[in-house]
Amino acid sequence: MTEQDGAPISSEQTVREQALIEEVVASFAGAESERLKFLMQALTRHLHAFIREVRLTEDEWNQAIKFLTDAGHITTETRQEFVLLSDVLGASMQVVAINNPEYANATEATVFGPFFVEDAPEIRNGEDMAFGAAGEPCYVEGTVRGVDGEPIPGARIEVWEADEDGFYDVQYGDDRMAARAHLFADEQGEYRFWGLFPTPYPIPYDGPVGAMLAAVGRSPVRASHLHFMVTAPGYRTLVTHIFVRGDEQLVIGDSVFGVKESLIKDFAHHPADAPTPDGRDLGGRPWAQTRFDIVLAPGEGEGMRVSGV
Ligand code: BEZ
Ligand code: FE
Repeated sequence: MTEQDGAPISSEQTVREQALIEEVVASFAGAESERLKFLMQALTRHLHAFIREVRLTEDEWNQAIKFLTDAGHITTETRQEFVLLSDVLGASMQVVAINNPEYANATEATVFGPFFVEDAPEIRNGEDMAFGAAGEPCYVEGTVRGVDGEPIPGARIEVWEADEDGFYDVQYGDDRMAARAHLFADEQGEYRFWGLFPTPYPIPYDGPVGAMLAAVGRSPVRASHLHFMVTAPGYRTLVTHIFVRGDEQLVIGDSVFGVKESLIKDFAHHPADAPTPDGRDLGGRPWAQTRFDIVLAPGEGEGMRVSGV
């Protein structure tokens, strides 16, 4: 950075700017922990580096403060605009990447999203987690294993997804509980359930984050996906989704950068008269089917959840 508005920045000005950074960095010397001191000093350096690199104007600073204020005003118990901001900036996925390093053949993690609910109903293997939510029935099955191939009986599998209109139950504001459940892997580490064929949907875009996406010409739409969280004692908690091979949103892009190639799965579509794997009568509806074999890394159990409200 040697110029501002075409004029060179004097060495005296540069010295003044750097002196301010040193002064702010030093102000954190007495922080209550080394980690807090490290975080605040690094934040100071990076924030000032950004301000200096872009030569931030006072008008831009005011707009940034208004953006953050608006994000605060729209945030409630169920709407977390700062998490959305983190998501669309890729910060959430960066935190996921740092905290879930690749481990042998373990299934990759992705962003948690804001629509998980703690007390989703339990279903038995083979039951339906849609609970009446609209969409094409989809039979999902797979195994839960460790990296050495050992089955993990009793692994807890949380699943949740949007309906075919692109909404999670919690977005209807009427206390319904649908398209979410938890189940447990059986003695062979196998699981199966009926859900909905995933469809693309936008992240909430009626607030400042949506306005920012519109201003920069970005779509709020996420690639079609089905969320999973899998926990078992002695294994690293896995928060992930599966995506649908062939979904055109995979080409356009996922608004929160959550897609990983290994998480894109083949989904088969069957006509209404095709027999279902468990003999279930779907009342003359076509249905879909996929398989997701899950591999857990060894670990402590409860892991990171980036992006929960
Ligand atoms: C979701 O997967 O539902 C989601 C993730 C990040 C932001 C908004 C929604
Ligand atoms: Fe989602």
